[in-house]
Amino acid sequence: MLVVFDSLTGQGERFASRLNEDTINILDYNGEDDELFLVTRSWDFGKVTDEAIEFLDQYANKVVGMAVSGNRNWGTNYGAAGDKIHAQYGVKLVLKFEGSGFSKDVEYVQDWIHNYKEGNV
Ligand SMILES: Cc1cc2nc3c(=O)[nH]c(=O)nc-3n(C[C@H](O)[C@H](O)[C@H](O)COP(=O)(O)O)c2cc1C
Repeated sequence: MLVVFDSLTGQGERFASRLNEDTINILDYNGEDDELFLVTRSWDFGKVTDEAIEFLDQYANKVVGMAVSGNRNWGTNYGAAGDKIHAQYGVKLVLKFEGSGFSKDVEYVQDWIHNYKEGNV
């Protein structure tokens, strides 16, 4: 599994690096690998980033799941980019997490990826 991260201030990148999979910056992604896991973020009242839109318009069919970094201070817009991506592209929203995630968040996504590889999800 290749983990593609969309990260401005580094929190999502840190989360991605803890998943024990290969990682790549969304801006450097060039079509390699057929099974991708996306780590993205919300901005400006729950918007999907332009980088994620450009990426998903081309490669959403390769993305098996995603995790979305956010901050609960944003209330109903917490991690809202994940809901929008799911609605528009049908990508499974595995987890919303705050900042770079707690250990339990990392473990949850590691387990999900493991189960996906085993054909259990
Ligand atoms: C201008 C701005 C807008 C944001 N808007 C949202 C938002 O609508 N919903 C949310 O959950 N988090 C929001 N956040 C929080 C970021 O998504 C959060 O800090 C995230 O961890 C950043 O990821 P990154 O460090 O990988 O760039 C916002 C942060 C900034 C600076």
